[in-house]
Amino acid sequence: MTNYTAAIELLSAGELIGLPTETVYGLAADATNADAVAKIFALKNRPQFNPLIAHVSSMDMASAQAEFSGKAQQLAEAFWPGPFTMVLPKSASNTICDLARAGLDTQALRFPAHPVAQEVIAAFGKPIAAPSANISGHVSPTSAQHVKDEFGANLSLVLDGGNARIGLESTVVAVLSDEVTLLRPGSISKDDVEAVVGKIGSSLHDDNAPKSPGMLSRHYSPKARLRLNVTSPEADEAYVGFGPVTAKTTLSLSETGDLTEAASNLYAMIRKLDHSYDAIAIAPIPEDGIGAAINDRLRRAAL
Ligand code: TXA
Ligand code: MG
Repeated sequence: MTNYTAAIELLSAGELIGLPTETVYGLAADATNADAVAKIFALKNRPQFNPLIAHVSSMDMASAQAEFSGKAQQLAEAFWPGPFTMVLPKSASNTICDLARAGLDTQALRFPAHPVAQEVIAAFGKPIAAPSANISGHVSPTSAQHVKDEFGANLSLVLDGGNARIGLESTVVAVLSDEVTLLRPGSISKDDVEAVVGKIGSSLHDDNAPKSPGMLSRHYSPKARLRLNVTSPEADEAYVGFGPVTAKTTLSLSETGDLTEAASNLYAMIRKLDHSYDAIAIAPIPEDGIGAAINDRLRRAAL
């Protein structure tokens, strides 16, 4: 039984909860309450200039907070609810606190597909700010236990929604003056987005203007040293394979070479190996589809 009543009481009191979504678990607070949002930054030890995604449970809730151009409307119809975030001009009726937007005049919105997330947001009746439920820079959590491991007694409630189905943070696009730009790759690929709105731009690596913390070069990192595109691991390295298990393999992201399965296993496997190894080597991962997002996260984690 999911403890919705306790979740709503905590959110109403300006406290944080661990919230499952289909991408990764979120550290959730009332997006309209600056004191509550400040607790997210404090608990995550997150640099204050990083804006947060506000999560909604309906198109009505979304359109009260931001301006939807024609293209934004089309993208919402195509990908919501789902692992897709849009950065849009904030509306005149926006009630989300400035802190959650880091003072920007744009608003990041996502309508998650996970039934527990939807239920909590709908019952709360207001948008919920939720970055991934990990200390800034650490590996993102894909199970309730990961969130408990991360914050322990500092977080009184983590709703358990099972293992995150996708396992990688949402795709983030900006839709400003009807121009669409990819800010963070995810399971919805650039091709998927272009199939809806035509050619889009991308703005992925700019540490001098971190519009998206997912764009900071070093991010998603385990404590262990990480080596990528490895076909011959060293003796002291855990070896994360992709495809059939061989004598070298410690864990395989997907024994059948399925990129979607690899994405959903990625963070849990790195987290697990980080407990017992000082060095982790990862096999080459193909760049196709969600493979591009996996490689993006791995490159940032390896810096
Ligand atoms: O899958 C996800 O998106 C997860 C789950 C919990 O929903 N959330 C997540 O949040 O990954 P977070 O805070 O770790 O990443 C939010 C991304 C960041 O890269 C952030 O900079 C970007 O969205 N973002 C938020 N507001 C923005 C804005 N106004 N302009 C540009 N980027 C923005
Ligand atoms: Mg994160």
